[in-house]
Amino acid sequence: MRRLIAAVCFAIAFASPAFAEDGYDLWLRYKPVEASYAAQYKPQATAIIGDDTPILNSTKAELKRGLDGLLGQDTPVAQAVTNGAIVLQTGDKDIAEDGFRIEAKSIDGHRVTVISANTDQGALYGAFRYLRQIQTRQPITTIADAPKIRLRVINHWDNLDGSVERGYSGTSIFDWWRLPDLVDARLTDYARAEASIGVNGVVLNNVNAKADSLTAPYLEKAEAIAKVFRPYGIKVYLSARWSAPIELSGLKTADPLDPAVQAWWNAKADEIYRIIPDFGGFLVKANSEGQPGPGDYKRNHAQGANMLAAALKPHGGIVMWRAFVYSEHDANDRAKQAYNEFKPVEGQFADNVLLQIKNGAIDFQPREPFHPLFGAMPKTNEMLEVQITKEYLGQGTHLVYQGPLYEETLKADTFSEGKGSTVAKIIDGSLDNHTFTGMAGVSNVGDDRNWTGNDFSQADWYAFGRLAWNPEASSRDIASDWVKMTFSDDPAFVKPVVDMMMASRETAANYMTPLGLAHQMATGHHYGPGPWVCDLARPEWNPCYYAKADAKGIGFDRTKTGSDAIAQYTPAAAKQWADPKKMDERYLLWFHHLPWNFKVQSGRTLWDELITNYDMGAKQVAAMQQTWAAMKPYVDPERFTAVSANLGIQAREAKWWRDASISYFQSKSGLALPAGIAPPEHDLDYYKSLDFPYAPGH
Ligand code: GCU
Repeated sequence: MRRLIAAVCFAIAFASPAFAEDGYDLWLRYKPVEASYAAQYKPQATAIIGDDTPILNSTKAELKRGLDGLLGQDTPVAQAVTNGAIVLQTGDKDIAEDGFRIEAKSIDGHRVTVISANTDQGALYGAFRYLRQIQTRQPITTIADAPKIRLRVINHWDNLDGSVERGYSGTSIFDWWRLPDLVDARLTDYARAEASIGVNGVVLNNVNAKADSLTAPYLEKAEAIAKVFRPYGIKVYLSARWSAPIELSGLKTADPLDPAVQAWWNAKADEIYRIIPDFGGFLVKANSEGQPGPGDYKRNHAQGANMLAAALKPHGGIVMWRAFVYSEHDANDRAKQAYNEFKPVEGQFADNVLLQIKNGAIDFQPREPFHPLFGAMPKTNEMLEVQITKEYLGQGTHLVYQGPLYEETLKADTFSEGKGSTVAKIIDGSLDNHTFTGMAGVSNVGDDRNWTGNDFSQADWYAFGRLAWNPEASSRDIASDWVKMTFSDDPAFVKPVVDMMMASRETAANYMTPLGLAHQMATGHHYGPGPWVCDLARPEWNPCYYAKADAKGIGFDRTKTGSDAIAQYTPAAAKQWADPKKMDERYLLWFHHLPWNFKVQSGRTLWDELITNYDMGAKQVAAMQQTWAAMKPYVDPERFTAVSANLGIQAREAKWWRDASISYFQSKSGLALPAGIAPPEHDLDYYKSLDFPYAPGH
């Protein structure tokens, strides 16, 4: 009888979604699969066999954890091959770096599943892939895969005081104060999560860097983190402050051509590698937003990057030099500045330098055309930077799945070598024959229990890793895998939730910045709307600079009659945006300044279309709330409630965005609202008066 009760309790616990969940386990929950599936997988997962190396030991531990959970068994980690074992085999030179092959084989007459790889790291990725097959109820057939991009890097904008720039999920997971003595066990779970999506590099500190990160005590702390990451194939990198030689050692200059400065960096590199033998290298933000850089000494970016690259080269280190630069000297169009500074130094970068370019030319907006530097520098190693944290996409609360945004950039055609010259092909090196390739994502991880604040923001982190592994992958397929692993594989849940995720980015663009508008967010914290802001010191800090709305019309003219930023693209790429009557209207006001009565493709006037878009965005969030409400039977109460609460905030804020934007633009156009559109709830002064001194992330 007791046995029966236990069995019934067990069945209820695992069959019912009403199982305590707090999001900590991310997509690695390893909850038991249904009995019919377990019966299929079990005969192929009777034991785990592999050599005794740091990475293979983590691989075996992960397989055990996964199989024990998913199949409800106690999987032995064994030495001798038996029927049904999973065998890790490395040293297969035919398999690409970090790649793997999973296949059924016979070893000494035993039927086994072999995960073969060249490197230990490849086997680790193969194990995660094997587990994913079970998590998503797919058969274990022959699977061969390898990453298309070499450096798959997470950038933490974490500060040494524990705060996180543009972080919306608590404080930093790196406790710099208590490191290296106290190493949070959570860092191991963090490394597991990163490895599970193929991430192999983590930049530990903010690009707005402090020189202190490069001092011996902080290098010891970084090494304590590196020790945790190493068995998961993850290297640590640091953001380097350009002026560190002045700040740390009292040098008179940080001029990259000064021998004393070069000697300082060489010695610093030697010191770093003594402490962190497999250190990855530096990420550098120079001459941007007030950060020092080689430009302070009239040297160009290549001269700066190469000096650091030379210091790291003997140790195998690399430099990721950011192309996100803008300064008041070129206020004519901020979107043009990076291209203007970098294009002239094409061909001059050392071979261990990557130019790290944001997806768009402004700054992680809800929608931007791809950055014109992609394809413009075929001799330079170009890597893509996307933002996983949602500074401009609703921050900690809005459900906005960024997979489609990343995919849109990756699939964008630069036409740099003719049709099909996509950003994906540039950053995976295939277009211009580069082998040194990379993709970076700005982390959304903090010390919140569920890591990312909003449970759905985990999907952005997951999608980043999957796309950095394969930039041609589909964001819908990725969302579907994530939903199955994170919540439930019930089709009645997966389909509506994936549809909701896929539409969510477009929805956010509608209620924040429709029709190609950009940077309409409030000042500093960027929380909520601020389209009226027009009095900041630098023109390009002002939302009014980007929308240029007046009594006659709206939009930023980037054609010949305006800033001509469109000329930074290849003619074939530029052509798609040249004619406002024929182009994809989601980029309309990015490229064109048009009169309010301009006729758009729907037949409406531009004014009516703009207002209709704002209104639609707010309504779409209300529809998301309904979709989620109907999902209650499939989700544990904790996460159901948390997501519902966040959607409530999002609905309120989408309406705020709609109303504030409509009020402001109406104050410019003086036009009546289209029929059927409700007027804003308050007047413009009310929206302008709202103040949020404690908005997070700043
Ligand atoms: C944005 C962001 C800053 C960040 C910068 C960067 O401007 O608001 O906080 O420092 O991007 O990418 O360097």
